[in-house]
Amino acid sequence: MKENVQQILAHFHIKQFQHDLIHWFQTEQRDLPWRKDKDPYKIWVSEVMLQQTRVDTVIPYFYHFIEKFPTLDSLAEAEEEEVLKAWEGLGYYSRIRHLHEAVKEVKEKYGGCVPASKEQFSSLKGVGPYTTGAVLSIAYGIPEPAVDGNVMRVLSRIFYITDDIAKGSTRKKFENIVSKIISHDNPSDFNQALMELGALVCTPKNPSCFLCPVQRHCRAFAEGVETELPVKTKGKAPKRVSFRAIVLMNEKGNILIQKRPPRGLLANLWQFPNDEHAPTRNDESFVKEISERYHVVIRSMERIGSFEHVFSHVVWHIEAYKGNALELQMGDETNKWVTIDELKQYAFPVIYQKIWQAYE
Ligand code: ADE
Repeated sequence: MKENVQQILAHFHIKQFQHDLIHWFQTEQRDLPWRKDKDPYKIWVSEVMLQQTRVDTVIPYFYHFIEKFPTLDSLAEAEEEEVLKAWEGLGYYSRIRHLHEAVKEVKEKYGGCVPASKEQFSSLKGVGPYTTGAVLSIAYGIPEPAVDGNVMRVLSRIFYITDDIAKGSTRKKFENIVSKIISHDNPSDFNQALMELGALVCTPKNPSCFLCPVQRHCRAFAEGVETELPVKTKGKAPKRVSFRAIVLMNEKGNILIQKRPPRGLLANLWQFPNDEHAPTRNDESFVKEISERYHVVIRSMERIGSFEHVFSHVVWHIEAYKGNALELQMGDETNKWVTIDELKQYAFPVIYQKIWQAYE
């Protein structure tokens, strides 16, 4: 029988736990760029970047992004193309499209001031319970839970909770627990300390229990089961999709690029001509497909190499080519012939960046 939240917390020393955790965070926390001030806009940007991406990867993107868009208003006023370019390589691009829409709404509705109300903030595009809790607690000191995968790992161990963390109802259970144990004196440090503990000590494979500031509160450590937690069922294996792509140059030395559709995987990013929508069987059928679809005559073609990229639900395998072409039709908004210099201003998925590097 699983315990309910009241039973889980029955013998838990909340005050002592808060003290041990926060004291550790205040002495041991990493010096991270979004911890330099409590600007809600910057904290929001950092939390969105950190949602699917590691801290080490995020740091340089964060500096660059804040330099380019130092205020909420500057981001709200920017062109989507420029915003996507600053996110290029971070992945999960719907995050930035939603953030861009959300800051525009904040600018219009709230005069550019990030709302400190849970109802108002959480109704913005792309803002779920995690982002709400993280931004409101860190920036405004509001005692809201901020439960992500790392925090679920930490808490599943402290309270020896065996519910499957892949389930939405489990996250709710953890949010319920955090709302009971969060420090009301310092919600910001409390939430950040749980994240920091997950990153530095209570790691997935080899947790450093002997360095842990809250070891004496941890039921999994007491029972020697820390590495068996959290319980997480495996999702489906990603589907493998193989197709071809080609970097085409015309007589003027321009390159053909295409904007991806506004919905779906890698929405609104740019790519080279390809047969992703209907993979062809051989070079001949590929040439025919590309010629018709992109209104070009391909005069020569040569293989560049194979490229692979793993997304969360799909693995792409691209056979890449380069070639010379004649354009039969002027470009438009989604199919453009650009100079090599101009090409650098467009945001491409990482796999197409790699193809471009191999081409160059
Ligand atoms: N992961 C998610 N949010 C974080 C934060 N504010 N600091 C460090 N790691 C995080």
